[in-house]
Amino acid sequence: MRPPTVYRPFMGGQYEVAAGLFRLGTQPIPWREDGAPEAHTFAFDDTYPAFLASKAASHRRALHEYAGEANLSTTLREAALSFLATTMAAESDGVITWDGVSLHNAQLGWTAHLDLRRGSVEGLTRTRAPLSGVIADIEPIHALDFLGLNVQEDLAVIARGPAGDWLAATHVLNPQHWDPRDKLGRDFVAVHAPVAGSGPMNATAPRLVDAVITRGPFVRFAWGLAMTDRLDHHPAGPPDDDRHSQTRFDPERAFLRVERQTLTGFPHADGALFTIRPYTSALTMAVMTPEQAAALARALRSMTPAQVAYKGLTALLPDLLLWLEARALS
Ligand code: HEM
Repeated sequence: MRPPTVYRPFMGGQYEVAAGLFRLGTQPIPWREDGAPEAHTFAFDDTYPAFLASKAASHRRALHEYAGEANLSTTLREAALSFLATTMAAESDGVITWDGVSLHNAQLGWTAHLDLRRGSVEGLTRTRAPLSGVIADIEPIHALDFLGLNVQEDLAVIARGPAGDWLAATHVLNPQHWDPRDKLGRDFVAVHAPVAGSGPMNATAPRLVDAVITRGPFVRFAWGLAMTDRLDHHPAGPPDDDRHSQTRFDPERAFLRVERQTLTGFPHADGALFTIRPYTSALTMAVMTPEQAAALARALRSMTPAQVAYKGLTALLPDLLLWLEARALS
């Protein structure tokens, strides 16, 4: 497996709370070094064992805090599950195989017989494999749970009906300081209400949701700074140094956390699958050149005080900017 891609969405030098949707497979990502479009939903790289270990820990600690369903229709569930199984197998470089009934993972050493209409795991067998120990004690409770435990991405399903949209399922085992239970069953505007400066984006919610369901697939990126590289920052999980009142900025212990998110619509089922894949890289790796340091400093300076607070950066920002601006001149 290859090392993870280092994404630098801050290279535009501007922080924006906006849709920022790029059409998967065709639309170039302007700040990518090669300017190329991206086509994949799932990325498998050499952080796979760490992601699986983190997902297994969330599952073991309290699966219900991360995963749930709210009025998910059989048709939408089947569409999302079928897309998930087919696409993860196609993009896994042979690690995962899927024959329409059984999904086998050669790294994890498990094979599940899935009923996509019922959303169930009908049978699970395990063999010894490089990572079988990571999930040895994990019992997947349904097909979405099983499928989510084979990939690095977190998963959510949005549904739409005559009265609007709602978040119909979550399998988000590595959330970044939000609680999936607060969001399940809520509409786009309610989900995004805590995001500082989300008013203009939220005002276009019906059009955004319609685009996601009928005109994708899309990819988008969110980014922030974190003071640990722990993947799971569920608010009810054990605290760590990230967003801790005592934590001070230290360039050797800081990380850029980018979330690569994809949206794939199922128009016949009036819904869409949302994937979230965190990428954490040491800040010293994320800003290696003076241009990168200058762009990140500019992007951070473009945040409003409310956005700085929302991103958990209020106590860190002065020292962070000093460090970045010195690096920009070096
Ligand atoms: C068209 C689709 C979407 C767009 C354009 C969008 C946009 C955004 C933006 C701009 C942010 C702020 C990012 C930042 O911290 O800088 C955000 C945050 C967030 N989004 Fe979305 N989003 C979309 C779909 C979804 C979906 C389907 C979910 C369901 C899980 C979701 C869950 C969240 C959550 C939980 C946050 C953080 C909110 C919090 O801190 O409580 N988003 N989104």
